[in-house]
Amino acid sequence: MKIIDELDLRGKRTFIRVDYNVPLDESRKITDDSRIQGSLPTLRYAIEHGARVVLASHLGRPKGKADPKYSLAPAAARLAEILGKKVPLAGDCIGPAASSAVASLDDGDVVLLENLRFHPEEEKNDPEFCKKLAALADVYVNDAFGTAHRAHASTAGIAALVREKAAGFLMRDEIQHLGGLLKGAVRPFVAILGGAKVSDKITVIDNLLPRIDALLIGGAMAYTFLRAKGVAVGGSRVEADKVDVAAQAIADAEKRGVRLLLPSDHVIADKPEASAASRTCGLEIPDGWLGVDIGPESRKQFAAAIAGAKTVLWNGPMGIFEIDAFAAGTMAIAEAMAASQAQTVVGGGDSVAAVVRAGVAEKMTHVSTGGGASLEFLEGKTLPGIEALG
Ligand code: 3PG
Repeated sequence: MKIIDELDLRGKRTFIRVDYNVPLDESRKITDDSRIQGSLPTLRYAIEHGARVVLASHLGRPKGKADPKYSLAPAAARLAEILGKKVPLAGDCIGPAASSAVASLDDGDVVLLENLRFHPEEEKNDPEFCKKLAALADVYVNDAFGTAHRAHASTAGIAALVREKAAGFLMRDEIQHLGGLLKGAVRPFVAILGGAKVSDKITVIDNLLPRIDALLIGGAMAYTFLRAKGVAVGGSRVEADKVDVAAQAIADAEKRGVRLLLPSDHVIADKPEASAASRTCGLEIPDGWLGVDIGPESRKQFAAAIAGAKTVLWNGPMGIFEIDAFAAGTMAIAEAMAASQAQTVVGGGDSVAAVVRAGVAEKMTHVSTGGGASLEFLEGKTLPGIEALG
C-alpha cells in the first residue's frame, strides 16, 4: 500500500476520501471536529505539494436523497476556518456542479463535494457511479479510516479506476496503531471493553484473547458476564441469549491464562435516568436496582491493572456516562490511561468522547477516528477501504 507522500501531486486533481461524518447539534453546529482535525496532515501535505484537492465524504444516513439536513456545509465552513483558506462546497459530488468546481481549481486549492450519500449508488458501490467519481480524479487518496469498513463507491469501487492511489496519513496511522495491537504489542497488554452489548464486542474479545494478558469488562455487557458466573444482577440490562457466549469467553480466558476482571462493586440506580435514586453496592445487585456504572473498588482494581500494563486498549464506556452521576467509572478509566506510561489506544465513539470530556485525549498514544471501523479492524476483518488500496 502506497502512502500519499510517495505520489507526485503537483497540478493533479487529487481526490481525497475523508470521513467528515461528524456529530452536529440541532442548530447544525459541529460538536466534535476530531475527524476534520485528523485529516489535516494529509490535506496540508497535499496543499503544500501543489495538489488540486477534491474532498469527498458522507454525512449521516440520508438514504440516497439530497437533504439539506445532511449537507456537508458545516464541515466545509469548519475546514476553511482551520486552514485559513477558501473551501467551497460543490452542490453535488458528480455531474456539472462537481466537474465545474473541480475544473476551476488551481494548484493548492481545495473543494469539498456535497454528501456522497445523496446518491443511492454510493452505498451500492455502483460501477457507473464509481466511473463518475473517478472522472474527477487523477490521483485517489483514501484517508477515511472511519468508513474503511464500508465497501462503497468512494471507498472501494473508485480505487480500481484511478491509476495512482494511496492511503492518507490518518489512514496510515490508524492501521499502524490498531495493527500494532494485533501484531507484536508490548506485554503486558491490557484490554478494557465496555458498552451495552456482548454481541457487539464478542468477536473482538475472541480475536484479542490470544494476544492479551488481562481483560477488564465494564458497562452493561459486564452484567451478562456476571450472570454467566451466577452473580445476582438485579434488574440490570442482561442479554439473556448471550449468557452462554459470555460463559464461553470466561472459559477461554481461563484456558489461555488471561486475567479476567469483572466489576466487584457497582453504582446502582432504580431507573437508568438522571433523576434516579442511586447508591453503591457490592458484587451482588439487589432486586429492584440496576447497575449503571462500575463502583469505587472496581475503579481501583481496573486502574491498578492499567498501571501495570505496557499496552492498553480501551473501547466502550463503563456505565451510562452521558449522565454525570453515572460517569465516574468511565472517567476513572480515562484518567488511569492518561497516567499510564504504556502505549494507550482508544477506539470507538463513546470512549473517545470520554477521553475528550476528561480532557486527556492529548495524553493518549492514539485516539482512533473509527467507531465501527476500529471494531471490525480489531475483530481481525479485512476492511474493504484498506484492501482497495493494496
Ligand atoms: C461512522 O461514523 O462509523 C462512519 O462514518 C460510517 O458511517 P455509517 O455507519 O453510516 O456507514
